[in-house]
Amino acid sequence: MDLQLAGKTVIVTGGASNIGRAIALGFAREGSNVVIADIDESQAQKVASQANALGGGGRTIVVRADVTSYQEVAAMVARAIDEFDHMHVLVNNVGWVLDSLFLDQPREDWEKAVNLNLWSVMNCMRAALPHMVENGYGRVVSISSEGGRVGEYREAVYAACKAGVIGLTKSLAREMGRYGITLNSVCPAVTIPRSEDEMGEHSLWKTMLQVFTPEMQEKAARLYPLRRLGTAEDTANAVLFLASDVANYITGQSLSVGGGFTMI
Ligand SMILES: NC(=O)c1ccc[n+]([C@@H]2O[C@H](COP(=O)([O-])OP(=O)(O)OC[C@H]3O[C@@H](n4cnc5c(N)ncnc54)[C@H](O)[C@@H]3O)[C@@H](O)[C@H]2O)c1
Repeated sequence: MDLQLAGKTVIVTGGASNIGRAIALGFAREGSNVVIADIDESQAQKVASQANALGGGGRTIVVRADVTSYQEVAAMVARAIDEFDHMHVLVNNVGWVLDSLFLDQPREDWEKAVNLNLWSVMNCMRAALPHMVENGYGRVVSISSEGGRVGEYREAVYAACKAGVIGLTKSLAREMGRYGITLNSVCPAVTIPRSEDEMGEHSLWKTMLQVFTPEMQEKAARLYPLRRLGTAEDTANAVLFLASDVANYITGQSLSVGGGFTMI
């Protein structure tokens, strides 16, 4: 199936690490122009080099942008358009979680979670959608989480934000459909980077790997009907599909990529 993503311009926030990295490489392989928007410039440059070496036909660049700042996000969109004339696809991938019980979490951690998981997505959508409306075309895919659909132990505020991403996506899908814009979300389950090389300095896995020991990973895999944890490519494939014109009659949906972990 030709996803017809060649020549499209795609912004991937948090594209330097793990899932975002796989998404950026996936679009590059399809021949898209990719803007990796991240605060980790050196890891982002590494991924951009890997993307450009794939020879897909597009070009991958890095734009340093903190997605919690509307000004930086607006500059990121402007830079993408300046560089590639148009911006067709926005992938909201940045997110963050600290595994702990709600009653033990200091307020600063809630604020960080809300900033990185919800404000970031609202900032990027607000900055990108006017351009898409003007063009009468756009695809927005936001990375939510299985936790956002069914809740998650020790991830209460994160799950609230991820449910918020689903609600925001559905609501904007209703507002934006008339302009040829689709918005969908993808909900991964546990997806651990294969190596240090695949994660950035700010990756949530720098701390989460203390919880997800190899024994814990084995135990967790048994909870999934498909009996394995997810890979970053599992999620990237779903994102590419939803961003493509093959999926042009799909909007406002949240797609679980979780080996059957949830089925709602
Ligand atoms: N990995 C999982 O198990 C899992 C499961 C469900 C949902 N998700 C969601 O998938 C997404 C990606 O997860 P991951 O595991 O690849 O994350 P990760 O922590 O490995 O990577 C996040 C990337 O975002 C960048 N980043 C952090 N703060 C930023 C900011 N303010 N502005 C710009 N960039 C910033 C980091 O530098 C890093 O490159 C997140 O939204 C996460 O919530 C992940």
